[in-house]
Amino acid sequence: MKVLLTGGAGFIGSHTCVELINAGHTPVIADNFDNSCPEVINRIEEITGVRPKLYEIDVCDGEKVREMFKAESFDAVIHFAGLKAVGESCALPLRYYRNNIDSTLTLLEVMAEFGVANFVFSSSATVYGVPKEVPLVEGMPTGCTNPYGWTKLMNEQILTDASSADDNLSVVLLRYFNPIGAHESGRIGEDPNGIPNNLMPYITQVAAGKLEQLGVFGDDYPTRDGTGVRDYIHVVDLAKAHVKAIDYAAERKGVEIFNIGTGTGYSVLDIVNTFMRVNNLTIPYAIKPRRAGDVAECYADATKAREILGWQAEKTLDDMCRDSWNWQSNNKNGYK
Ligand code: WQD
Repeated sequence: MKVLLTGGAGFIGSHTCVELINAGHTPVIADNFDNSCPEVINRIEEITGVRPKLYEIDVCDGEKVREMFKAESFDAVIHFAGLKAVGESCALPLRYYRNNIDSTLTLLEVMAEFGVANFVFSSSATVYGVPKEVPLVEGMPTGCTNPYGWTKLMNEQILTDASSADDNLSVVLLRYFNPIGAHESGRIGEDPNGIPNNLMPYITQVAAGKLEQLGVFGDDYPTRDGTGVRDYIHVVDLAKAHVKAIDYAAERKGVEIFNIGTGTGYSVLDIVNTFMRVNNLTIPYAIKPRRAGDVAECYADATKAREILGWQAEKTLDDMCRDSWNWQSNNKNGYK
C-alpha cells in the first residue's frame, strides 16, 4: 500500500517509515520540519536503501494537501503530525487546538474528495486523564488534564463521528503509552528540541554530559518505590503496531481503539537503574518535588491489540535502555 505519513520525519513517524518499507509498503512523508529535520530522510534511506518521497508542507494547508493527494494515489493515511508538549500546550492552548485539530479536519476533507478511506491516528494514553484504576482498558473513561490531551481526545471524537457519517471511512485509533528507545542502527532516534521534558531523553543527555543531573519528580507516590510508574514501549515495537493497524484498517470499516503498550509498568528508578546496568554508566540524580499534572501510575492492558491486531511488544526494557543510549552516544547533538 502507498501510505501517507504526516509528521513522518518525527521520532515515531521515522521508525514507522522504516517498518513500512521493511513490510513492502510505499510510505510518503509530509512534514514541515517544525519538530524534526530533513536529515532524517537521509537516515531512512541509509537504513532501508529506500528514499521515501517527501512533501515539505504543513498539513493544515488544504491547498498543499490537495496538490499532494492529486499527485499521489494513497491507500492509507497515518496522522502523526501535531504539537505534543504537555507543558507548552498549557501555555499556548490556541496554537495547540488550531494546529492539532485543523490538520485532522483538513486531512479528512481531502481524503473524502479523493476517496482515500483508511486513517490511522496517533493518539495517546493521556486521553485517560488521571486513571481511576490500572491497567487501562480501551473502554475506560476518558478525560484530559491538559490542552494537548484534549486535542487527542477531540480528534478521536472527530474521527469517530466522521466514520459514523461515512460508511467508507475506516479509522484505527492507537493510544500510545511511553515510547522510548531507537532503531538498532543508532541512525534514527528521539531528538527533542531544547531541554527534554520526557524521562529517557533527559537520562541520555545526562549520560552524554549535556545535562548535569536527573531530577526525579517525586518519590512519595503510592507505588513500589515511590516514583512514577509508566508503560514504556520500544519505539520499534510501536512502529510495527502501525503496520498491523493499516492492514487492519484496510480489511474493515468503522472505528477501533487500541492501547499500544507492553502491559508492564516500570518506575522512574527502574528506568534509571536498568539504564545504568545495561550501559555500565552512572546517572547522577536527585529527588525533586512532584511535577504538576503527573499521575502515580499509568500502564496498559494490551490484550485487545494482541487478540485483534495480532500485535504485541517484543522488546525488553534492557533493549529500550541499550538502544536509547546507542542513539544518543552516536549522535551527541541529535540530527544537527
Ligand atoms: C515519565 C515519568 C515523570 C522527566 C508524556 C505525555 C504523554 C506522552 C509521553 C505524547 C513520570 C518522570 C520525567 C524527568 C522525571 N507524550 N520524570 N524526571 O509524562 O508519562 O507522558 O510523554 O504523547 O502524552 O504526557 O512521560 O517521560 O515526561 O515522564 O522524574 O526529568 O518520568 O514524573 O513519572 P509522561 P515523561
